[in-house]
Amino acid sequence: MYGDINASVHQGAVQFLGEQALAADLRQRSVKHQITGGFHRIDDEAAAFGQFGVRSAQQCRRHLGLDHGEGAGTGAYNKAGLIGGHATLVFCITIKVGTWPQRHPRVKSRPAKRKGFDVIVLGIETSCDETAAAVVDDTRRIRSNVVLSQFDEHRPFGGVVPEVAARAHLEHVDGIIAQAMKEAGVSFAELDCVAATTGPGLIGGVLVGAMSAKAICVAAGKPFVAVNHLEGHALTVRLTDDVAFPYLLLLVSGGHCQLLICQGVGRYTRLGTTIDDAAGEAFDKTAKMLGLGYPGGPLLEKAAEGGDPLRFDFPRPMAHRPGCDFSFSGLKTSVRRAVETLGGSLDAQTVSDLAASFQCAVAETLVARTRKAIDMARASHPEITHLVVAGGVAANRAIGGALSDLAASKGMTLVKPSPALCTDNGAMIAWAGLEHFRLGHTDPLNFKARPRWPLDPDAPTAAFAGVKA
Ligand code: KG4
Ligand code: ZN
Repeated sequence: MYGDINASVHQGAVQFLGEQALAADLRQRSVKHQITGGFHRIDDEAAAFGQFGVRSAQQCRRHLGLDHGEGAGTGAYNKAGLIGGHATLVFCITIKVGTWPQRHPRVKSRPAKRKGFDVIVLGIETSCDETAAAVVDDTRRIRSNVVLSQFDEHRPFGGVVPEVAARAHLEHVDGIIAQAMKEAGVSFAELDCVAATTGPGLIGGVLVGAMSAKAICVAAGKPFVAVNHLEGHALTVRLTDDVAFPYLLLLVSGGHCQLLICQGVGRYTRLGTTIDDAAGEAFDKTAKMLGLGYPGGPLLEKAAEGGDPLRFDFPRPMAHRPGCDFSFSGLKTSVRRAVETLGGSLDAQTVSDLAASFQCAVAETLVARTRKAIDMARASHPEITHLVVAGGVAANRAIGGALSDLAASKGMTLVKPSPALCTDNGAMIAWAGLEHFRLGHTDPLNFKARPRWPLDPDAPTAAFAGVKA
């Protein structure tokens, strides 16, 4: 990656630090130093580059959308320090190519020869436990889609540890981007823009991906597109199946569980949301309770295969409530009580039965709430014909089957991306970036990472809802 960056800017700035120095920042300094000291180094370099008008770490942070207020209470400031190496890279390249402090990087003219497509985008995803990059073009062709899951890093802790995730993204993001570019057979210069998840998600990881994208944008003179991770999931079916707006979306992931009418790019109406746990979170916590380990969702689905879904009579939360909000924490508690009642170690068949009964309760709950949402959506948008399910939990076959039956009973078509495009990946971010780019939407380099970023900012807070609404 540095080779390309070196080639696309005037040599001076990168040589000033040298590849080794940048690599040392990114990989070889102690983690503690990275967390606490990343920006002190920028002060040194700022002194050297004062002639360009950038004089302090504080100024550098501001131009990159990193400041003290961002993500207050989440430790974002320290995590900004963690990616000091990337900040330094962006900083040096930016001032050298002379784009600082413009709001948009200089856009080079597009290469004249294009074979059968008009727009091509690199997408970077680092919001949770997958480091991913992909290249997608506007013929809906996925040129490359490289995903590195952090299962080994988080398994000892039984779940995703934000700091561990951020460090793993930092370690791998450059290599994953380089691989995606190589597999796609394109250079940075051939891209139309670079898109990255800038929220919602674990802020340390989000910053790593967003800063990497900004660095490439500056070096290669390309526009930056800040992508909402949820919109990445929401628009995936337009990449895979060319689904037209409007459609009804059930978005079920590790952090979210929502029903939305997708009316257009950037235009979403939320009909329902979870008031406590997300569906994927319920899978993960239940899997942990059953001793199935991490990642919980797929392991629980596997355990449920030989199980009896009728052995345990778990509740169908919110069944009699109006509207289509969700709640999963009571279901999780019921599983815990059942486990406690059984006492001692559970035999394999009991674990399977518990898993199958839990999965059945989740599937029926999702179906019941989605049935209501279909009626609500049709009242305002009678032309809706497609029900879309997206996000990691959409990879679950039992849930997919139940939703397919629901869609058929309502005269609708269910569209579900392939399992690899349900869970987090770079292609969905590249595609969402591409959709925005071709509408003329790009973002300034100081676009801030957002730990929370609702798709429908006007949606009222759900009754009794916690922070995930
Ligand atoms: O969309 P995603 O990859 O990341 C987030 O945006 O959160 O979703 C991850 C979630 C995790 O909670 C994971 O356990 C769940 O999706 N998941 C599944 C399955 N595959 C992934 N849940 C149930 N069954 C699956 N096969
Ligand atoms: Zn996701």
